[in-house]
Amino acid sequence: MASPLSSAGPARLVVLVSGSGTNLQALLDAIGDDPEGYGARIVAVGADRDNITGLERAERAGLPTFVCRVKDYGARAEWDAALAAATAEYRPDLVVSAGFMKIVGKEFLAGFGGRFINTHPALLPSFPGAHGVRDALAYGVKVTGCTVHFVDDGVDTGPIIAQGVVEVTEEDTPEGEAALHERIKEVERKLLVEAVGRLARDGYRIEGRKVHLGHVGE
Ligand code: GAR
Repeated sequence: MASPLSSAGPARLVVLVSGSGTNLQALLDAIGDDPEGYGARIVAVGADRDNITGLERAERAGLPTFVCRVKDYGARAEWDAALAAATAEYRPDLVVSAGFMKIVGKEFLAGFGGRFINTHPALLPSFPGAHGVRDALAYGVKVTGCTVHFVDDGVDTGPIIAQGVVEVTEEDTPEGEAALHERIKEVERKLLVEAVGRLARDGYRIEGRKVHLGHVGE
């Protein structure tokens, strides 16, 4: 079955990671040996650092990988251009930032804006940035969660695709950031798999801040 995003079969995904890659693994598991059924397949995995479990997961799955480290480039814009070029080589229909801990620049967004998705461990627009779980705990919220959204030129400010809620309990002390993050990630992995699958299978349209699923060409 062709995806509305690609006339040539399942949508092509490039996934970007910086760490353990459990969200990447959830996508790999959901696709399994039926990319047609899921509507998408991962064609490559990119990272901003070496020696991470996320890259090992990709290699185990037999996927090509690439690494673009900021420190290997003279300027941030050069790194951004290199990341954009490495990603473009795999002709993705969608790019998924799954725990990729870098803000991309102008060139990357020029190439992939409107088809670059991020997953964030808080209910945006609350607690954007690198410490979403810690910041929500410190604020004393009673619920937090995760947000899958398109990336724009702000920090975690793009149009929201899907959100999942996780309760914060009395047991969640500021020292318990990792435990809360694990509970969020259980919800997040399912949310990301569901959101990416729906975008790929049903198509989508972005109108201002609103993401409409299944409205291609209307
Ligand atoms: C996820 O919780 C993701 O939301 C978060 O990193 C984790 C990656 O987990 N991303 C951010 O905080 C980005 N600001 P994983 O490597 O196991 O998929």
